[in-house]
Amino acid sequence: MLSVDKFLDSAIKEIKEKLTGKGILACSGGQDSTLLAVIANKAAGDRILSVFIDTGLVREGEKERVREIFERYSLNYRIIDASDEFLSALSGITDPERKRKIIGAKFIDVFERVATEFGAETLLQGTIAPDWIESGGSVRDTIKSHHNVGGLPEVMHLKLLEPLRDLYKDEVRMVSEYLKLPSDIQPFPGPGLAVRIIGEVTKEKADTLRKVTSILEEKVREKFPMEVRPWQYFAVLLPVQSTGIHGDKRSYGKTVCIRMIDTNDGMSGTFSKPDWEFLEDVSTSITNEVGEINRVVYDITDKPPATIEWE
Ligand code: XMP
Repeated sequence: MLSVDKFLDSAIKEIKEKLTGKGILACSGGQDSTLLAVIANKAAGDRILSVFIDTGLVREGEKERVREIFERYSLNYRIIDASDEFLSALSGITDPERKRKIIGAKFIDVFERVATEFGAETLLQGTIAPDWIESGGSVRDTIKSHHNVGGLPEVMHLKLLEPLRDLYKDEVRMVSEYLKLPSDIQPFPGPGLAVRIIGEVTKEKADTLRKVTSILEEKVREKFPMEVRPWQYFAVLLPVQSTGIHGDKRSYGKTVCIRMIDTNDGMSGTFSKPDWEFLEDVSTSITNEVGEINRVVYDITDKPPATIEWE
């Protein structure tokens, strides 16, 4: 069993010893990078810059949640609104792999700009044990180009520091709880909502999907305590319209698909089987609150054969 005190001492010591000059880290708002930002701040204070990039493809409230943590722990941080840049780079693109590559490249562009301005020599990355155990010829990486900040150190010629590299997910949770950080942040893919909008990504579609996602997340949190909560739950906006009735008028609205997955590691999994009443409640709330949606479907496919994300 991990001793949280010992881990924190050694992580802080490692950063103090190895950090030369200034360091930068990309905080996605996820569990691992948020924890790292707080630990790095304890070790090196303002010599570290934590950066959150708003790609326009993040979830509702994500930026505010990250800002609140940055403020609460008095981090040296920057929140960059790059949503126009990302959305215009994605204009007209429908191929999932091209979307992923464009987002990865854009992310490096923006991050590199900030790192140069700050004069960073070191990149701190929230890699944890399953990340490197799974990488290196893993099936997953040949199926989708995973976007995280993996490509950054080579491109930017920065020294790499990975103080969380020996931790497993449950240990990250333990340390986060100890530091009074939120410990139930749902994993969210680097390319964000872009891989949950099938077809071209636009601001309007991202706004629609953000609303739906937020309704679903709230319903899941209300219904399932942490111990029985599906591992991941999200909505996908489909490029399909269908006929419906709105009031007493015909509508021709959009379709969202709800995906909920039970898995231990994301490598394989089964679709969650919530009760019908729960799904009905989700569907009714979505169609009531998001006018442009008139149909909600549920994904009943395991991984494999399907991947968790649709793209
Ligand atoms: P797939 O769709 O490959 O997803 O079955 C497995 C897990 O990985 C997450 N995922 C990503 N995470 N960058 C990430 O950091 C990505 O590009 C990415 N694509 C998928 C997915 O949400 C699931 O948890």
